[in-house]
Amino acid sequence: MTTDHSNTVRPRVMVLGGTGFVGRHLIPALQAGGYDVSVPSRQPDQHRNGHELAGTALLHLDLDTLATAFGHDGVSAANTLVQALSNHSALINLVGILHEPRHNGETFQRVHVDLAMMALQAARQAGVSRYLHMSALGASATHGASFYQRSKGEAEDAVHAFGARHGIAVTSFRPSVIFGPGDSFLNRFAGLARWTPGIFPLACAQARFAPVYVGDVCAKFVEALASPTMVGQRIDLCGPADYSLRELVAYAARQAGHPRWVLPLPDFVARLQARVLEHVPGKPFTRDNYASMKTHNVCGDGEARQPTRLEDIAPSYLRT
Ligand SMILES: NC(=O)c1ccc[n+]([C@@H]2O[C@H](COP(=O)([O-])OP(=O)(O)OC[C@H]3O[C@@H](n4cnc5c(N)ncnc54)[C@H](OP(=O)(O)O)[C@@H]3O)[C@@H](O)[C@H]2O)c1
Repeated sequence: MTTDHSNTVRPRVMVLGGTGFVGRHLIPALQAGGYDVSVPSRQPDQHRNGHELAGTALLHLDLDTLATAFGHDGVSAANTLVQALSNHSALINLVGILHEPRHNGETFQRVHVDLAMMALQAARQAGVSRYLHMSALGASATHGASFYQRSKGEAEDAVHAFGARHGIAVTSFRPSVIFGPGDSFLNRFAGLARWTPGIFPLACAQARFAPVYVGDVCAKFVEALASPTMVGQRIDLCGPADYSLRELVAYAARQAGHPRWVLPLPDFVARLQARVLEHVPGKPFTRDNYASMKTHNVCGDGEARQPTRLEDIAPSYLRT
């Protein structure tokens, strides 16, 4: 439900990582829900013309550098963020990466764990009492199969522990792969299909996902801001159905007008492909991505599912 805040001061929320795919959907949803939004970015000028970011306060703040300094310099590096956070009622952290420069887990640790802790420390100093954290399905500090999953799990544990210790109300979200206009998952496979003649060779073709619509994910974030019952929760977010990666790639290719026969690669070829492609600019597939896909990315039996079907949304943007 949209709240009418026309006669009141609208609460202000800061969204870290708000310039990315999820952020560009979340910001209009927050504004429609009655919130003013600020978004720090390493390169705000690149995003000023994006219509989804219209009406937000775009700030220049290199969180990555702050997090690095924070790790070595106690709390002082967070001061810039403390100042930026004054007058905010909540902080949302969407910052995340899928690959790192070297296959050693260090950058995942800095971007997922150190940055989140620096941000929470700053929130505490600025008196911000609500924090929403974007994690990922499969994140686990102890059982994650990849650096990505372990660092996401460690960050999730750390933000909940910090919140409990310092009286900050924390909720974390654990989505399977997210789809919607501008996604980098279905759009990437649709784009690749265009350049593959007839047959689409695919690593980890049997991996299973429960794609969740970005609109449903954003609705949960907005709901959480006003929901005391969601405080302390770690919420898995899955769409209504599970698919194999093979099914999703074939579907994306078909919808994009480039139907392809998907050829599952044997495991040793998939591993070899990851070793090669992680040296290609943009790192389309890495050993860490391969490790993440060794476990299915779906919700458990009986868990709540988000309502929007892939088939009701994806054709509209894959066809263009
Ligand atoms: N998309 C999915 O299918 C999916 C599934 C599960 C979980 N998630 C999680 O959801 C979150 C958002 O995903 P997304 O798809 O929107 O990602 P995205 O499009 O890649 O956006 C990531 C954002 O993080 C910021 N960022 C990246 N590296 C950074 C760094 N080193 N320091 C500071 N900021 C950095 C970027 O901001 P600037 O470049 O403007 O500074 C960007 O706005 C991530 O945490 C991701 O792990 C996504």
